[in-house]
Amino acid sequence: MKTLLQINSSLFSTAGQSSRLADAFVAEWRRANPDGRVIERDLAKEPVPHLTAERFQAFLSKPEARTPDQDAVLGFSNALIDELKAADVIVLGLPMYNFGVPSTLKAYFDHIARAGVTFKYTEKGPVGLLTGKAAYIFAARGGLYAGTPLDSQTTYVRDFLRFLGIADVEFVYAEGLAMGAEQQKKALDSAGASIRRIAEESLTPFAVAA
Ligand SMILES: Cc1cc2nc3c(=O)[nH]c(=O)nc-3n(C[C@H](O)[C@H](O)[C@H](O)COP(=O)(O)O)c2cc1C
Repeated sequence: MKTLLQINSSLFSTAGQSSRLADAFVAEWRRANPDGRVIERDLAKEPVPHLTAERFQAFLSKPEARTPDQDAVLGFSNALIDELKAADVIVLGLPMYNFGVPSTLKAYFDHIARAGVTFKYTEKGPVGLLTGKAAYIFAARGGLYAGTPLDSQTTYVRDFLRFLGIADVEFVYAEGLAMGAEQQKKALDSAGASIRRIAEESLTPFAVAA
């Protein structure tokens, strides 16, 4: 049985454009994987706290010296990581806010990057430990950035996931959503077409394995 983890990071929760595109993809995935399991993580409904020195210290603490507070912090981070480990496919709804990723997503990333757990340091540099997964990112933006130096989101998210070992990453963009009704429709239609193409190419039983 395959497992998909859907992470929504829109501040509008399920009503965000990025969440809706992610939902459309998940619907296709469910059709292709009727026995599959979907785990939902909504960073608007359940925000991950900012990483503080205290929380980071909990990540480094030795089991025998851990305080109850550190236990709780570690348990929370472990639960997020367990969801990721269980997932064959990761779906991320990714809005652009103020030229970057939502701060809730950054806080989530800060809680899943754990040395010795999701990546390790080696003599040849860091190695990601979350291998064998595919990720699909649904990026919603008010303006137009894809393929330009202003698109800091794509490289950041791609590099971060690769750092954790998730190298099979595909982006679907809906851009210009604040540039009038016509452009919005064009962007959403195009993103919808990309979702159907991915479903056909990658989700059917005859698709070439990623
Ligand atoms: C607080 C805020 C900041 C935004 N900043 C940007 C921005 O820097 N660039 C941009 O193109 N669009 C920006 N937008 C527009 C969003 O990218 C657009 O509304 C998109 O649909 C957001 O995704 P969501 O609907 O999934 O939340 C911003 C929207 C909000 C609410």
